[in-house]
Amino acid sequence: MDLAGKVAIVTGGGAGIGRAAAIALAGAGAATVVADIDQQAAEAVAAEIVGQGGSALGLVVDVSRSVDVGTMAAAAVDSYGGIDLLYNNAAIQTYGSVTELEEPAWDRLFAVNVKGIYLCSRICIPLMRSRGGGAIVNAASIQGLATQKRVAAYAASKGAVISLTRSMALDYASDGIRVNCICPGSVDTPMLRKNAAAQGDAEAVLAMWGSVHPIGRIAQPAEIARLVVFLMSDDASFITGASYVIDGGLTAAFVQG
Ligand SMILES: NC(=O)c1ccc[n+]([C@@H]2O[C@H](COP(=O)([O-])OP(=O)(O)OC[C@H]3O[C@@H](n4cnc5c(N)ncnc54)[C@H](O)[C@@H]3O)[C@@H](O)[C@H]2O)c1
Repeated sequence: MDLAGKVAIVTGGGAGIGRAAAIALAGAGAATVVADIDQQAAEAVAAEIVGQGGSALGLVVDVSRSVDVGTMAAAAVDSYGGIDLLYNNAAIQTYGSVTELEEPAWDRLFAVNVKGIYLCSRICIPLMRSRGGGAIVNAASIQGLATQKRVAAYAASKGAVISLTRSMALDYASDGIRVNCICPGSVDTPMLRKNAAAQGDAEAVLAMWGSVHPIGRIAQPAEIARLVVFLMSDDASFITGASYVIDGGLTAAFVQG
């Protein structure tokens, strides 16, 4: 999967799946903008890529703020001449049912997880179009397909990402811009580890969650990153509007065991 000469943006690229995807995209040859609300994390991942001989830029960006997103796109154009690839990965997770969640928490989650994709795509698509096309991958989740108790806002946001992916795929197919989303099961990232720690011994909880996946373990971020790189690459040239489940078999079963 050769991305030489391409320019990629990864939001939430400072940690977890975003970090792995930024490293993998750069490894495939793309000049990579690592955008994260955590400036230190973004700069550290960019430095790691440069240390491995790749080309990268770390930027502080809150994807829910149009001014930040505008600065991000301008920096990509200034440094690398344009944008070809966008991985809309940044998201937050907040537990709670509808009656438990306070309004600001609901609004913040949708501002990052859904509006963030709208803002980043809105600014990047015209730039992709001017270069003859591009590819976008949106981070959904199996929580957008089936869910658990007390994940109301996150599950709703990931359902929205799946629908938004279909809409964007239709709207920009004739511009040569492919849009797909991924629906991972549990992945070993800071987000998942924080959730596990809230329920007790993090390692034991992660092992228990892993055992629920038919493959018998949770995923490593690099396993998800390889799917992102594939969907960004010309190897996926006929794939658009698709939702890729990558969950170790979790949603294949009615009941585990
Ligand atoms: N980890 C999982 O099990 C899992 C499963 C399914 C889907 N996902 C999805 O994959 C994506 C990455 O998840 P992860 O587990 O790596 O998360 P993570 O929390 O470990 O990392 C997310 C990164 O995004 C950054 N971020 C948060 N808010 C931001 C904002 N407003 N603007 C810019 N950056 C921001 C964080 O600073 C962090 O570096 C998310 O969309 C998540 O919903 C994760």
